[in-house]
Amino acid sequence: MSFTFAALDIAVTDIERQAMLQEVLELSADVHHWNEFRGCRMIAIYNGGGRMGGRVELNDGTHIDTTQGQFEYTTAGKKCPTIQKICQEKIFPFMSPPGRVTILRTNPHTGLNIHLDSAESEIGTLQYKYRIVLNGNIGKLYFIDKNYNKIYVPEYYNSYAMDGSHAHSIDPDPEEKITLCIGSPWHGEQNPLYTQLLEKSLFKMTVSRPITKTEWLDPAFNR
Ligand SMILES: [Fe+2]
Repeated sequence: MSFTFAALDIAVTDIERQAMLQEVLELSADVHHWNEFRGCRMIAIYNGGGRMGGRVELNDGTHIDTTQGQFEYTTAGKKCPTIQKICQEKIFPFMSPPGRVTILRTNPHTGLNIHLDSAESEIGTLQYKYRIVLNGNIGKLYFIDKNYNKIYVPEYYNSYAMDGSHAHSIDPDPEEKITLCIGSPWHGEQNPLYTQLLEKSLFKMTVSRPITKTEWLDPAFNR
């Protein structure tokens, strides 16, 4: 199971996708966090302690290790019943364990910085992310190959798994890009449902790996 990108048909309808988008668009500004490294806004939907994940300190000084899956819906997540329903019914069943859910919003006419969603030492280990594109042009996502070319994904598949340890980014687009992202503690672990989805995948691609540039690495992973 080594691919860079694989389309996954989890049978989310266009009506459901529109309803999820509408819920995101109705969220208030205060649930958004600016991610300096990637260059986009993030909204936490489901995570440990209702925060951005990792090792979360609670008010009483204790910690929740969000890699252990003690997750809950955030204030924003509680306002998104359709997103919750899709996660429970169509996404979490193929994930063992269920991952952290975050919305990424990239402004119109704005690209992301090329980045890895993992530490350099994790390249080549299981580091998959699952995504549903709710708004914007799907085909603006690209991976960097060993010759530093941009290898774009097809524009047809709004639901996919991708290797987060492979350098990637999105190009600017006239539309705002809004994506539902699910990551750690899910990394693409095998289970029968996920294996079946991958076997039925209509499109998979594998991109050669470039030598990593320092500026692609998120300082958050080195703390
Ligand atoms: Fe990413």
